[in-house]
Amino acid sequence: MSAALASPPTATKFSGNTKLFINGEWTNSSDGATFDTYNPATGETIAKVAHATKEDVDRAVKSARKALEKGAWGKMDACDRGKLMFKLADLIEANSEELARLEALNCGKTITDSRGDVGGMLNGLRYYAGWADKIEGKTVPVRGSFLSYTLRQPVGVVGQIIPWNFPLLMAAWKWGPALACGNTIVMKAAEQTPLSVLRVCELVQEAGFPPGVINLLNGMGETTGDAMVTHPDIDKIAFTGHVDTAKLITKRAADTLKRTTFELGGKSPNVVFADCDMDQAVAGAFHAIYFHGGQCCTAGSRLFIEEKIKDEFVSRLAEKAGQRRVGNQLDEKTEQGPQVSQEQLDKILGYVELGQQQGAKLVAGGKRVGDKGFFVEPTIFDNVTDDMAIAKDEIFGPVVSVLSFKDADDMIERANTTQYGLAAAVWTKNIDKAHWYAKNVKAGTVWVNCYHIVDVTTPFGGFKMSGQGRENGEAALEHYTETKTVTIALS
Ligand code: NAI
Ligand code: MG
Repeated sequence: MSAALASPPTATKFSGNTKLFINGEWTNSSDGATFDTYNPATGETIAKVAHATKEDVDRAVKSARKALEKGAWGKMDACDRGKLMFKLADLIEANSEELARLEALNCGKTITDSRGDVGGMLNGLRYYAGWADKIEGKTVPVRGSFLSYTLRQPVGVVGQIIPWNFPLLMAAWKWGPALACGNTIVMKAAEQTPLSVLRVCELVQEAGFPPGVINLLNGMGETTGDAMVTHPDIDKIAFTGHVDTAKLITKRAADTLKRTTFELGGKSPNVVFADCDMDQAVAGAFHAIYFHGGQCCTAGSRLFIEEKIKDEFVSRLAEKAGQRRVGNQLDEKTEQGPQVSQEQLDKILGYVELGQQQGAKLVAGGKRVGDKGFFVEPTIFDNVTDDMAIAKDEIFGPVVSVLSFKDADDMIERANTTQYGLAAAVWTKNIDKAHWYAKNVKAGTVWVNCYHIVDVTTPFGGFKMSGQGRENGEAALEHYTETKTVTIALS
């Protein structure tokens, strides 16, 4: 018997835009095909969305190329590009509640978290709007009687492929640096969550972006996504998603030698020393794994706890897990909504079964909640060993694997024994231990006595198989510009 939902889903309707956004216009796909999108709280279809074909990808690329090389965008002053971005952010802010509700409905994240994502989107666009007229080259002291300087020019037409866990935020992280640097965009949203970014594209139109600067396509990865990756006139692919998809994209993009940047998954080590502030660390470890139902690339899914406090820590975590309100994502009181899809639900429950088979001890959760939609109980496995699948693989759900340690040197080696290196955290009151951990853990982001603090101003990305390149901050600009050296003979 599965537990009941804290609040049942309400009936949902959607009557917004579901077309393709190409060259500033809304169109059907060239063959008229559509696909269904769902409310993950019920599994019911809420809209049929245009599915972009190879021809549609080609149309979008042509319009992006034209906007870059023949249209107003390529000639626009950098500060005016920034102004358009600020204007878009203002329009998003004016429509923020509508966007948050749409994000919650389609993605399953709670309305509270969705509002946070809209806020993050605004920060992202405004941060990069400010960069637009500050992308500078250098004058270089070369040998001989020459003047050399560098220009930083747009990479060109960029293809951006985003996942379903943070649709609005990922759009902002990718559009922000691309637009600031003067590129034009062909974006594909995830097939699970097309609706919120479609609505934002209506605001792109309203803001007055020239046609072709931002194009939005929807469709499956294997068709629409692949047509982008292999298109000869797309200069770069920026991708967020699964590590295996990134490997495939690397191969498929080889023939056109596209630039690629990747933000991939993780199995982030979250380390608790016995000298931590216990209340703060329990709350932090809870948030680390259960934020957005664990559907987060930085989720603190490997929880290393110093042995002498492990039992107390786990029992406090389990108590909190049992109290979590799982239910309708649009209910203000809900703390955890549904997972995004049947596929994710099956994957998570499969790992719960595997964890038990391989000998880990299930101390909380482990079951689906309700019999409709894709809800999962907050789940804790104790006595996990490094070789178990639940200690190695990205589960992308509300499942934490508890591992204990006695010796810090041994722990750091184990923490680093993973193909991933996206994020890591440590809980301790000892500043030496904190710095030691920050220096030695192999991860692109390290948190000390906090978790999931990600701001658009700081570089974000992975070591090892967690990615290539960095998003956010000044670091992202490098991946959206080509550097040109100009040398002039001085008589
Ligand atoms: P995915 O990597 O297949 O999908 C992400 C995006 O890539 C989507 O827009 C998808 O349509 C597109 N895509 C898929 N195959 C493609 C291809 N051959 N060429 C071009 N584009 C392609 O991830 P999926 O299947 O949604 O989720 C599977 C797992 O991936 C999750 O369980 C999780 O472990 C991981 N994941 C990690 C994310 C992160 O934030 N790093 C985000 C989403 C998923
Ligand atoms: Mg996939």
